Amino acid sequence: MPELTYLGHDAFLVKADKARLAIDPFLTGNPVAAAAAEDLNVDYVLITHGHGDHLGDGIEIAKRCGATIISTFEMAGYCQSRGAKAHPMHIGGGHDFDFGRVKLTIAHHGNTVETPDGPRALGPAAGIIVKADGRTLYHAGDTGLFYDMKLIGEMNPLDVALLPIGDNFTMGPDDAVKAAELLQAKLTIPMHYNTFDLIRQDPGDYVRRVRALGLGAEVLKVGATLTY
Ligand code: NI
Ligand code: MN
Repeated sequence: MPELTYLGHDAFLVKADKARLAIDPFLTGNPVAAAAAEDLNVDYVLITHGHGDHLGDGIEIAKRCGATIISTFEMAGYCQSRGAKAHPMHIGGGHDFDFGRVKLTIAHHGNTVETPDGPRALGPAAGIIVKADGRTLYHAGDTGLFYDMKLIGEMNPLDVALLPIGDNFTMGPDDAVKAAELLQAKLTIPMHYNTFDLIRQDPGDYVRRVRALGLGAEVLKVGATLTY
């Protein structure tokens, strides 16, 4: 069974039987990071989009570890141009890797990377479904609420859904409660909150509201690990 460790903000580590995956490893400059980028030892780096709080240390980690970045075609191409190995995919597409299956989903959000000439657009942002060791995890990335979350849950019965609750840039708590209802995951874990003042929220209140619907929800403390 895979182990999920919360590294803070949207950064997670998944230890599956056959591989270690980092998702959105924003650690350097992350005021709540549970690990330093140089301490991560992974085989794959999964990136939802290029904003600094998601791509984060992804390219550096991939290069140091010899890990493969998995992201959209545009993001993968950008990471390759910076010297990292990458596997390009796109929304709606799935691929079987040695550790399991990854599928990209829609996410209603922008996608830019910072360059010396200013922000550069790199196609749409994505969400990520990871199937490994017989378990299914959904990392929603940065997104607004969308009704197709119902379809994601129907087509990919979810053991864990990682959902942003910070508001301002993504769903806030009200929309994230509705997202949990649409997805029907066995367990929902809030993310993308309390890293900065602008996204301050009460994750305990969110969890209570999701549980009141008869659904599983839990606050995963930064640095904590669970098996799912
Ligand atoms: Ni973003
Ligand atoms: Mn973000």
